[in-house]
Amino acid sequence: MKHEKVEKNIGLMGLLIFIVISFGGLAEIVPLFFISDTTEPLKGMKPHSALALEGRDIYIREGCNTCHSQMIRPFRAETERYGHYSVAGEHVWEHPFLWGSKRTGPDLARVGGRYSDEWHRVHLLNPRDLVPDSNMPAFTWLEHAVLDGELTGKKMEALRMVGVPYTDTDIANAKSEVAGKTELDAVVTYLQSLGLILKDKR
Ligand code: HEC
Repeated sequence: MKHEKVEKNIGLMGLLIFIVISFGGLAEIVPLFFISDTTEPLKGMKPHSALALEGRDIYIREGCNTCHSQMIRPFRAETERYGHYSVAGEHVWEHPFLWGSKRTGPDLARVGGRYSDEWHRVHLLNPRDLVPDSNMPAFTWLEHAVLDGELTGKKMEALRMVGVPYTDTDIANAKSEVAGKTELDAVVTYLQSLGLILKDKR
């Protein structure tokens, strides 16, 4: 009996299970590479400005993404609170993705424009000044760290190699856009840019 052979040989059974599951995986994953909704940026989308890009790197360095997700799930409870659910087209230029799933704090996928720049500055320097019960850490040093923009253009060139459409002018102007700004300016600029493309749609 062929079937008996499979049942009595764990190695063979393991191999066959692997093949069957691989087919299931391929059937789910491969089509995504060919559906434009998952590979094309949304219409009108622009890559992060030089300063927002630096802000994003600081966001990663400070581990903001370990407490904040950037992915609104398509459920009523989420869309009522955060706005339009996240779509793949918003994220095609994100390297690396910052979706996350751990939410010690609120999702930030559409935080852009929700508060004033001043609100963010006060909040980042001491969250408890605005939200007395907050357990978000204070990021006081951001205010004093001044950026020189030396590497910003290089970062943009690297991103261009993986498909982010920065122009030569964007890259040439990067340093002057960033130099002299503080890390706090950069993070606030980044936060204010998040999720605007689908902001008003629900
Ligand atoms: C230890 C977890 C933790 C870390 C790390 C953290 N946060 Fe938060 N964050 C929170 C919590 C909790 C709240 C909700 C209370 C509040 O508003 O302070 C919050 C709120 C916020 C809000 C307001 C969101 C809203 O919709 O009201 C912003 C913006 C924010 N955080 C940005 C950041 C940034 C930028 C960083 C990194 C520099 C960061 N957070 C790091 C926990 C964290």
